[in-house]
Amino acid sequence: MSEATSTIYDRAAGNWARNEPVLLSDYTARPFVFAACEPLKGLRVLDLGCGEGYVARTLAAKGTHSVLAYDISAGMIEKAREAETAQPLGIEYRVGDASSDLQLGEGQFDLAIAVFLFNYLDTHQMQRVMQTAFRALKPDGRFIYTVPHPSLPFLRAKEEPFYFDRGAHGYFSGRNVLFEGRIWRRDGVDVPVRCVHKTFADYFECLRAAGFATMPKVTELRATEEHLRLDPRFFGPLKDQPLHVMFELRR
Ligand SMILES: C[S@@+](CC[C@H](N)C(=O)[O-])C[C@H]1O[C@@H](n2cnc3c(N)ncnc32)[C@H](O)[C@@H]1O
Repeated sequence: MSEATSTIYDRAAGNWARNEPVLLSDYTARPFVFAACEPLKGLRVLDLGCGEGYVARTLAAKGTHSVLAYDISAGMIEKAREAETAQPLGIEYRVGDASSDLQLGEGQFDLAIAVFLFNYLDTHQMQRVMQTAFRALKPDGRFIYTVPHPSLPFLRAKEEPFYFDRGAHGYFSGRNVLFEGRIWRRDGVDVPVRCVHKTFADYFECLRAAGFATMPKVTELRATEEHLRLDPRFFGPLKDQPLHVMFELRR
């Protein structure tokens, strides 16, 4: 049986803790999330699967009204709270399973985010999180989330600086199957990541079933020319490959 996600993250929390871009996805995904979340001034933000708080801190520093952040790993939340104590930004961190009933009330938040949370959940659990976000958002609230690109495990070998091991599974037969993977930091340290594989259609179908009726803006994120110029050794192996997908929508 595979190890619980919370155990993996409790153990790896020290390697995730950061205040500046370190991990591959801190370059290829999160800056695009930060830009998409603007304007942030005065917003009530809900961060689902917040980890050690890198994203929550970055958003709070841009003038949000408040950030409420959940993670299933007590180790990650401990790191997040340490950072909040060292430099208070008004972020409230809670240990909790985002796919269970979080009792958030209705229509409280302007913005809900889930940055690489859904790759830990099957389609049923993902739909529950989307329902939670739908209910928690104000009528014109925004929902932004990122996931690994569904094609990535089928296009990349098991190698640096990012992979998911699909084993013998195919794109359709691998649906809801857990692929173990690794993502590298630019300093050469790698951390374990997971992808419960979903097809592209799963993301749209679960949004619809959760109540979202608007068309999402979909961005396929990659290593850009700027990344390749910055560090050809690190980003070079990813040239021309789809890495992540960002979905942005209004309630
Ligand atoms: C790849 S990390 C991303 C953390 C953070 N969003 C970021 O971008 O830095 C995924 C996080 O999702 C958390 N997670 C996984 N399953 C969860 C669940 N059911 N409820 C809440 N958090 C969960 C993990 O503990 C981990 O901290």
